[in-house]
Amino acid sequence: MTHKVAVVTGAAGDIGRAIAKRLADSHDLVVLLDLDCQALGQAMVELSDDVRFASLVCDVTDEKDLAETAARISTLGLVHTLVNNAGAARAVSLGDTDGEIWRKDNALNLEAPFLCFRAFENALKEAKGSLVNISSVNGMAVFGHPAYSAAKAGLIHLTKLIAVEYGKYGIRANAVAPGTVRTQAWEARAATNPQVFEEAKRWYALQRIATAEDIANAVFFLVSDQAAAITGVCLPVDCGLTAGQAELARTFSQSDNY
Ligand SMILES: NC(=O)c1ccc[n+]([C@@H]2O[C@H](COP(=O)([O-])OP(=O)(O)OC[C@H]3O[C@@H](n4cnc5c(N)ncnc54)[C@H](O)[C@@H]3O)[C@@H](O)[C@H]2O)c1
Repeated sequence: MTHKVAVVTGAAGDIGRAIAKRLADSHDLVVLLDLDCQALGQAMVELSDDVRFASLVCDVTDEKDLAETAARISTLGLVHTLVNNAGAARAVSLGDTDGEIWRKDNALNLEAPFLCFRAFENALKEAKGSLVNISSVNGMAVFGHPAYSAAKAGLIHLTKLIAVEYGKYGIRANAVAPGTVRTQAWEARAATNPQVFEEAKRWYALQRIATAEDIANAVFFLVSDQAAAITGVCLPVDCGLTAGQAELARTFSQSDNY
């Protein structure tokens, strides 16, 4: 029997680790990829070093590293699921963004998911598998971090490009757009303003922010047979942020019902 494998990039991070944990419910083996060797070791400890998990250090922006990683994973089983989760933002406004930041944010958040797809494309074809790109609400409207946001918008389009061109091979491609999730990526902002998450809640219809587990559940659904007819979509997991803002509706309508 060939092992049914899922690959999660950036899996030493909070959202990636939650996704890896959830996908172990529907795969024989989940391979965690990350650049950060130490964080990867910590993630494996937190996942109890369970036999359903393996970890490999890999820089997803490096094509050669990806090719070697894909070759190693092919000896472990057949990749049915790829989750492009590695991502980061470097500058908060256009005023803080220079050419190098623009290129680096695009390399990690847009080019790397494309390179990862190409690295696992043959396996996904053979498995009639599925991929999920972790985009962001930043790819749907302006919330700061411009270079990252432009890349995340591009990632939503890349998802559609893969869905349309590779649908004939049975490959499905979808995106998930998280709203605010409390992870290490927020450490600097939370250090500057410890109230940042409380303040963020007022903009969310559900008056809370999403958890890493909320994101993992959406990914689990999208790669499952329950979503067999779903491809090319971007699913916001954002507690209603992109639906609209009650405060704005109150101002515009002058109704206290909001
Ligand atoms: N946290 C949020 O509020 C939020 C909101 C929307 C979208 N997202 C997206 O969710 C994903 C996960 O975010 P997170 O908050 O868990 O971030 P995180 O910083 O906790 O984890 C990101 C992981 O990616 C890894 N990584 C970075 N560069 C890499 C590379 N070149 N190769 C391999 N791994 C690399 C890091 O080492 C880290 O472990 C990202 O794509 C992020 O853009 C997060």
